Amino acid sequence: MAKGLKIAINMGGGDAPGLNAVTEAVVLSAFNRNWEVYGIKNSYEGLLDTDEIIRLTPEKVWHISSLGGTILGTTNKGNPFAMPITNIAGETEIRDVSDKVVENFKRLRLDCLIAVGGDGSLKIAYDLYKKGIPVIGVPKTIDNDLAATVATFGFDTAVSIATEAIDRLHPTAKSHDRVMVVEVMGRHAGWIALNSGISGEADVILIPEIPFDLDRICDSIMGLELQGQRYAIVVAAEGASPKGGGRIDKGKGEMGRQDVVLGGIGDFVAREISARTGKDTRSLVLGHLQRGGSPTTFDRLLSIRFGAAAVRLIAEDKFGSMVALDPPNIKAVPLEEVISGGLKGVPLEGDTVRTARDVGICFGD
Ligand code: F6P
Repeated sequence: MAKGLKIAINMGGGDAPGLNAVTEAVVLSAFNRNWEVYGIKNSYEGLLDTDEIIRLTPEKVWHISSLGGTILGTTNKGNPFAMPITNIAGETEIRDVSDKVVENFKRLRLDCLIAVGGDGSLKIAYDLYKKGIPVIGVPKTIDNDLAATVATFGFDTAVSIATEAIDRLHPTAKSHDRVMVVEVMGRHAGWIALNSGISGEADVILIPEIPFDLDRICDSIMGLELQGQRYAIVVAAEGASPKGGGRIDKGKGEMGRQDVVLGGIGDFVAREISARTGKDTRSLVLGHLQRGGSPTTFDRLLSIRFGAAAVRLIAEDKFGSMVALDPPNIKAVPLEEVISGGLKGVPLEGDTVRTARDVGICFGD
């Protein structure tokens, strides 16, 4: 087995409950092999300003597995191939600083990088691997949209929080005979909306994979009235869109960010329902609450398993791969396959969508 390695770990993209559990598992698994671990702050920024690298010893990570967020910090603007850099004139421009990242990595005599992230960050990790950095990927995202793994950590926590929120909406919606529209995260996949909507007994679930027709939604809400239910709960995934209409988003967001900022579909749907049915309607956006707080036990365990498995892959020299859940095991998937495998949307003929239809939930189609 390799002796005396120096491994680095960083986080990329939005935080997800379980990042600290991965960090703790990596540090403890490495320590038990007599390896050193260095935490890179704020995604790849810490490899540009190397004062942002901290030695992680067991005392620094004991019992952080239950904490939300990440002790290392993260950013979704930290792509070294397109980094926003502010020059001395105060102007910000996008530059490729990946050579500097590789140079600093080598100068620090690091042997491997464990890159924890979603699709965007794993693509960066793969590009750095092709430039000579030995990389192991760890999948993270509350959206659960990576095709290469059965599950990512953070998703179960987000679904639990969304389900609890929906549970709390039922009594207030019922008291006022209102329609409540709750917008949940998930980007271009409807997993959070689908799983929380079924568990929370929503009446309507809108997901990006099934473009919706507002008249169908309103018919189903009015149909509930005929059955004596004068209120309704609508769960809308932020990436959902009307049939034939464009997606609602908030534009590109901050400079250096690769993706658009989603949001607004809940308000839109609530306005339309109110106008078409005359029912009292309210909307709310659950937003970043879904990423906050402690990971659920499932997410915590998955994160710890991913962290330990990542260290095992280093011991086996399986660089350029990512740990993935393949129940009951964790396996290694080449990063190239992860990137080309694309995103995992909700399968329309899958058991979960069929279950929702069986119990009478409307998808607006
Ligand atoms: O990818 C995770 C996620 O939480 C998405 O569900 C959401 O669209 C996005 O990140 C929000 O990003 P930000 O934290 O930059 O607002």
